Amino acid sequence: MKSAILSLTLGATAALAAPSVLKKRAACDAPVNITQSENPFEGRTLHANSKYRAEVEAAAANLTDSSLASAAAAVADVGTFLWLDTISTIETFEGYLQEADCSEIFGVVIYDLPGRDCAAKASNGELAVGELDRYKSEYIDPIAAIIAANPNIAIAAIIEPDSLPNLVTNIDLTTCQDSASGYRDGVAYALEQLNFPNVAAYIDAGHGGWLGWNDNLKPGAEELAAVYKAAGSPAIVHGVSSNVAGWNAWSKNPGEFENDPDGQYNTSQDEERYTQYFGDALEAAGLPNHFIVDTSRNGVQGLREEWGDWCNVKGAGFGVRPTSDTGSDRADAFVWVKPGGESDGTSDSSAVRYDSFCGKEDAFKPSPEAGTWHQAFFEDLIKNANPAF
Ligand code: GLC
Repeated sequence: MKSAILSLTLGATAALAAPSVLKKRAACDAPVNITQSENPFEGRTLHANSKYRAEVEAAAANLTDSSLASAAAAVADVGTFLWLDTISTIETFEGYLQEADCSEIFGVVIYDLPGRDCAAKASNGELAVGELDRYKSEYIDPIAAIIAANPNIAIAAIIEPDSLPNLVTNIDLTTCQDSASGYRDGVAYALEQLNFPNVAAYIDAGHGGWLGWNDNLKPGAEELAAVYKAAGSPAIVHGVSSNVAGWNAWSKNPGEFENDPDGQYNTSQDEERYTQYFGDALEAAGLPNHFIVDTSRNGVQGLREEWGDWCNVKGAGFGVRPTSDTGSDRADAFVWVKPGGESDGTSDSSAVRYDSFCGKEDAFKPSPEAGTWHQAFFEDLIKNANPAF
């Protein structure tokens, strides 16, 4: 990651003779002020950060099939979120952030809670349960300082994927019980500290196949709303993110799992219906109820054996490109949150972070560790993209 930025800087310096290369992409000339009632994605394009660009360009260079290679190159121009998934990634944040110009919004994922990924193994994080102080001082505080120093750049922040949803449905697990107070206090702290006028925050809400079950709507909305209120109901919160690193369709009728025997217990059979039913529950619980929905890998449906299958789903394709043109008042934007081509988890059953979901029949094998580049999966995402590249 660091080297990507470095080579970019060197490239620009070496090209002194070519003013067009040097043209600095400018932040806004005044501080950005996103009001809570506005859609921050309207009139702004999701920034295509150079971390993902470097990954994709390296992947494209490995492709001998020229049509696949040129399609791959086009992926580099698609906006994605930058995941700050360890303390060490923070030192790259400001460089990437400052690439964004005034017509753009920079997407960042806050993802380093103590005891992370309490109901699974593949994305267990670096901070142990009990290390909330480190989360605050070594993770959130430095991120907040960088944002404070860059008030002229619009930022969309997704707060801690899967964390609060796990407390709603997986609290029978000791690991999630142990993580619970750190998750609640950590998310509240993040919301308080990142409460800047140029930030729009979305608390992660899983997906329709998770908190969308009829019995989960109210407790789910109340769990999220309680943390929002504990943070002092900060104005940065616009609502929630859904389908992050997920596979659900935005709109599909009947939904992929609607005709299952238990389909009757879940009215949120696609993400659009999730914005409706969970959105209503959020409103009742007192949390802003706008959504951003990850469409990075949902181009192909009908691939999963079970709704909860989440690991490198075989046959997946890139989905709808980021846009604020969602046709829905509830959905501020379709966004690419999961950088398509980064793995969800290793299929190596001897690895410490091996999760059995990554060994299921519908999971692509072999697959590398979560977050690392998965060339074969990336190629399939392009081949199966819908819309096509
Ligand atoms: C997974 C990984 C994380 C990575 C993210 C995006 O959650 O655990 O490290 O940043 O996916 O690929």
